[in-house]
Amino acid sequence: MNRRRFLGIGASVFGAGALAAVAVPSAAYLFAEGRPGRLLASDLDLPAAFQAPLRVPTVLQPVRTDGTNDYYEITQQVAELEILPGVKTEAWTYGGTFPGPTVVTRSGRAAVVKHRNQLPVPTVVHLHGGHTPADSDGYPIDLLLPAGSAAPAASAMDGMPGMRHLSGHNLVGERTHTYPGRQRAATLWYHDHRMGFTGPGVWRGLAGFHLVQDDEEGALPLPRGERDLPLMLADRAFAADGSFKYPSTDASLAVPGVTDAYMNGVLGDVILVNGAPWPRLDVDRAHYRLRLLNASNARLYRLELHPQPSGGDAFVQIGSDGGLLAAPVTHDAIEIAPAERFDVVVDFSRYGPGTQVRLLNRFGSGRTAEVMRFDVSSRAVNDDATVPDKLSAVEELDAARAVATRHFAFRRSRADGWTINGDPYEPGRSLATPALGSVERWRFSSDVHHPVHVHLDHFQVTGRNGRGPGPWDEGWKDTVDLRPAEAVEVLVRFTDYGGTYMMHCHNLEHEDMAMMADFTVG
Ligand code: C2O
Ligand code: CU
Ligand code: CU
Repeated sequence: MNRRRFLGIGASVFGAGALAAVAVPSAAYLFAEGRPGRLLASDLDLPAAFQAPLRVPTVLQPVRTDGTNDYYEITQQVAELEILPGVKTEAWTYGGTFPGPTVVTRSGRAAVVKHRNQLPVPTVVHLHGGHTPADSDGYPIDLLLPAGSAAPAASAMDGMPGMRHLSGHNLVGERTHTYPGRQRAATLWYHDHRMGFTGPGVWRGLAGFHLVQDDEEGALPLPRGERDLPLMLADRAFAADGSFKYPSTDASLAVPGVTDAYMNGVLGDVILVNGAPWPRLDVDRAHYRLRLLNASNARLYRLELHPQPSGGDAFVQIGSDGGLLAAPVTHDAIEIAPAERFDVVVDFSRYGPGTQVRLLNRFGSGRTAEVMRFDVSSRAVNDDATVPDKLSAVEELDAARAVATRHFAFRRSRADGWTINGDPYEPGRSLATPALGSVERWRFSSDVHHPVHVHLDHFQVTGRNGRGPGPWDEGWKDTVDLRPAEAVEVLVRFTDYGGTYMMHCHNLEHEDMAMMADFTVG
């Protein structure tokens, strides 16, 4: 499948019918910068930092529960939000807010989430990090068409030679996703995953937290309640009228992709945490659990607290994408790529009363070098939270059990744009067919930065460039950042569910421009 045909899919599915030829940009745009992406500047004055209060997304209540299941409903809707003070921004939201409501579920119980689409565009919901049967996973052509739309448009492609697989399982108005809960406690997130349009969908607000809890984690003396904070980091740019600014090739979103200059990723000049620009939070002199999620399209952060507490090791990492680590790992700084999660504990009693502790992004410059501020209070508080030396029994996958070794090269090809093993995405063509229950060794390699994500099962990073794993590779992961010209090796075991799943680059501009592949578990 060539690039032109790929780009045509989005158009046909949406019914606009237009095929656009998008030029592949010159290599200079893509390789001149050490880091992915290009800054898109806002067209209005940006607010001063550390004025907006940090908000915590509301927790979604189930509409009903029974012996085994909890049922939830989310309406995807346009909402007018005040993100910048005094400025109205029209967003695409889950339930009217950005971030969407936090879904909190219990390991061992099924969460049944019904989504209703009242947006003007088709959507696909994916639970990132979810251990999910294929029909609920959010395959990118399984569209949920807006309520009131005519019959699924993709059926027009049925019977066209070679196009059979392009008809996803489309529904109009409502779709129910079942998440069986056969997974350990972890910080997951849900977001839009529509073929060719994940970048603009997430940029306009389609992202929320999904936390899985379990007994093992519940028994630990970790910070909880108001001291357990999910923090969604996302950079955005705003147009003069307050709308989200995004460099789509086609403003009507009938044709996927961004303009040539932004093909290596879109970076905003406003840093949002839980939807607020450079917010601040009053904290007690106590332990806090920060569930850091990078929900940015392309931006990499190197997070550091400033000032550092004396003695350093400000961040005590307790968990990664796939839940608790076996034992805590300390860091002065955390490098977090798009879609990664770092679950850390910070002890603000290491700071004197009244200290203003900024969370900085050492990869940013100017305004993007700042993220948020914690203002340490002087009041006396109780804090019985601690980080135990042993957190969880984590099974280490045994490399000797790997029954196959597969290689996936993430790189740009002159003819086809962003590719895996030389080819742009073609729905229905699997690059790997692992057997259910087997352990495989997967090797990823890169040209420029690519955060590589695998659906269905978490993996363990066993090495980088022939050496051991890096400082941020600990634990069960579902997304791993590849630096330029790097080879990363992981072990993954495919469990419980057969069917077709995705692996892809989570730089959303790369993803939308075809850096995805199917694999089928049989
Ligand atoms: Cu966070 Cu396939 O996605
Ligand atoms: Cu995912
Ligand atoms: Cu990439």
